[in-house]
Amino acid sequence: MKVLIIGSNGQLGNDLVRVFDRDDLYPLTHQEIEITDFSRTKNIIEKFMPEVIINTAAFHNVPECEKKPERAFLVNSIGVKNLADICRANNITLVYISTDYVFDGKKNSPYNEDDTPNPLNVYGISKLAGEFLAKRTEKHYIIRVASLFGVSGCRAKGGGNFVKTMLNFAKTKESIQVTSNIICSPTYTLDAAKKIREILDEGFPYGIYHVTNSGSCSWYEFAVEIFNQIGANIKVERRIENEEIAGVKRPLYSALTSKKIKPLRHWKEALKAYLKEEKI
Ligand SMILES: NC(=O)c1ccc[n+]([C@@H]2O[C@H](COP(=O)([O-])OP(=O)(O)OC[C@H]3O[C@@H](n4cnc5c(N)ncnc54)[C@H](OP(=O)(O)O)[C@@H]3O)[C@@H](O)[C@H]2O)c1
Repeated sequence: MKVLIIGSNGQLGNDLVRVFDRDDLYPLTHQEIEITDFSRTKNIIEKFMPEVIINTAAFHNVPECEKKPERAFLVNSIGVKNLADICRANNITLVYISTDYVFDGKKNSPYNEDDTPNPLNVYGISKLAGEFLAKRTEKHYIIRVASLFGVSGCRAKGGGNFVKTMLNFAKTKESIQVTSNIICSPTYTLDAAKKIREILDEGFPYGIYHVTNSGSCSWYEFAVEIFNQIGANIKVERRIENEEIAGVKRPLYSALTSKKIKPLRHWKEALKAYLKEEKI
C-alpha cells in the first residue's frame, strides 16, 4: 500500500510510521507539508500519488484554539477540505484523525459512532467541521481517538502527554491533586495506529470509527494506576473541576466505544506496554 502520513513526527504519526514501515511510505512533517496551502499540498500529493493519506495534523492546544479560532478552523477544517478535494480528484483514500471532543459529555456512558456530536469549544467545533469536510470525498475514514499517550509525546503539548507528566511528578513531588470528575478513554498511540492499519488492510466500509483502548477512567484513576504500575510512592488527591477550565468549556465525560470494531485491549494493559516501551 502507498501511504502518505501527514504529521509523521507527531505522537500518533510516529507510531503510524512504525506500523506502516513495510509499506511504500511517505512520512511528511510540518516542515515538508502545510495542509492549509492548497496548491503546494496538491503538488506534493500528486508527486507521490499515494493510495491512502492519513492526516494527523491539527491545531489542537484547546485554550489556544479558543484564542485563535481562525487558525483552528484553518488547520482543522479548511486543511481537511483541501485534502478531501485533492483525494477526491485523485481517487485517494483519506483517513482523518478526529477527537472525543466532538461530544458534549452529557450522555454519561461511552459514546459510539451513532451518537450525535455537540462540541463545546472551538477545538471540538473545528474538528467536527473537519469531519464534515472529510466527507467531501467518498473514500474517507474518520477515526476518532482520545487521550493519547505514545513514546514520542504530543508536539502540540510541548512533547508531553499525561503519562509523561505523571512519571515526572513521581520523581519530583510528594503529593499531587488530579481531576477526578472528568472521564476519558486513555489510548496508546501504537494500539490506535495498528487498528487504523487493520481498518485499511481489511477494507472496512468507509465512515466514522471510534478507536480507543477499552475501558474508561477519571484522570485521577489514570494517575493512580500509573503510580501503582511503576511502584511510585506519591500521594494522589482528588480534585473537582467545573465544565469550564481556565475559561474553556470541556466535556466532563468523553469516553468512547465502538459499535463497528472489535474492542482494543484494556487501557491498563496498554499502559503496561507503553511503560515497557518507555523502559520504566
Ligand atoms: N493528543 C491527544 O490526546 C488527542 C486526543 C484526541 C484527538 N487527537 C487528535 O489526534 C491527532 C494527532 O494528535 P497527536 O497527539 O499525535 O498530535 P501532535 O503530536 O501535535 O502531532 C501533530 C502533527 O501535525 C503537524 N501539523 C500541525 N499543523 C500542521 C499543518 N498545518 N500542516 C501540516 N502538518 C501540521 C505537527 O507538526 P508541528 O508540531 O511541527 O506543527 C505534528 O507533526 C490530532 O488530529 C488531534 O486532533 C489527539
